[in-house]
Amino acid sequence: NMDFYYLAGLEYEEGAALLLAPEQPYWNEILFLKAVDPEVNRWDGERDMLGRAVELGSGFASVRRMNDLASVLAGAVLRAKDRKMIFLGPVVGYTHKIPKALDVCQKVTARIPGSGIRLEHTLLPRLRQVHDAAELDLMQRAIDITGIALESAMRDVRAGMTEYELKRVIENGFRENGARRPAFSSIVGSGPNGAVLHYRDDRRPMNDGELVLCDVGAAFEQYAADVTRTFPVSGKFTPRQREVYEVVLRAQQAGMDQCKPGARMREDIHLAARQVIEDAGYTDYFFHGTSHFLGLEVHDVGVADEPLVAGTVITVEPGIYIADEKLGIRIEDDVLITETGYKVLSGHIPRTVREIEAIMAEGRK
Ligand code: GLY
Ligand code: MN
Ligand code: MN
Repeated sequence: NMDFYYLAGLEYEEGAALLLAPEQPYWNEILFLKAVDPEVNRWDGERDMLGRAVELGSGFASVRRMNDLASVLAGAVLRAKDRKMIFLGPVVGYTHKIPKALDVCQKVTARIPGSGIRLEHTLLPRLRQVHDAAELDLMQRAIDITGIALESAMRDVRAGMTEYELKRVIENGFRENGARRPAFSSIVGSGPNGAVLHYRDDRRPMNDGELVLCDVGAAFEQYAADVTRTFPVSGKFTPRQREVYEVVLRAQQAGMDQCKPGARMREDIHLAARQVIEDAGYTDYFFHGTSHFLGLEVHDVGVADEPLVAGTVITVEPGIYIADEKLGIRIEDDVLITETGYKVLSGHIPRTVREIEAIMAEGRK
């Protein structure tokens, strides 16, 4: 649960809860952790008994066990001025399980006449959408690692390699450079597979004359990168590939040109990118959105129907997919909205035809 991670900074605490109560007289936050079970410890490793060390390690002044949560909550609601608990979301459809926190809220309010639940489901997305300098450092690390891995892929790709082998070059690059995992399931699609948006299979051997589309991202300290590069297996674009590639690149630039505080992802960035693709005659070959928020999750939370604010990171990722020509091209970069405009956090990763061909030539010396 990335909301919990964002607030508490804890990676491996299943079944825990964080109670925030700004109005309470003696405490404002308590971290509740699952009880220690010596038998479970034998399987999952030792967990510490509660004490000063656990509190210092957690950064919370008060750490208690989950079995205290019910009574502490009841007391807190009784003392709260409006007797309201605040459910922070997420709001899910009725076919989903009821979120744990909502279940707890409902059980508590069922036992306290006159109490209630207030919904503040945009609060955490709003906080998480704006990244501070420390978070941006971690995101930049994730992006830099992704860049190193993509450059290795550009140097090492050869006709006859399977997509899987190229994926392994990229994912090994992540691990060798300090990322413990990919932020999402890597997409490596060659030839016709480049036109399949969420291509998962990866057994196809690649051929000279084809493009390979790599949509990948490392996670660093849980922060995600999300970058797509499309390059020719042989190291050289054909004239037709180059023609389409340049359109996607211009569309991406048009999208980026819109990036600034106050811009809207759909109405400004997406439409600007779309317009370039339409004007070039590829209207029916671009059928996905141009941008999403990026942060702790690859499709991160944020308030999409409000104008962008500085500190937000989004992707700009137009594409043209022509199945009949077995041709798929997407170019995806990670863009920080700044006070005055934007900064392309992944801009150093080879992107233009000339930059890509140059690094690929290096790998073929
Ligand atoms: N890798 C998923 C995306 O680009 O949104
Ligand atoms: Mn992507
Ligand atoms: Mn993306």
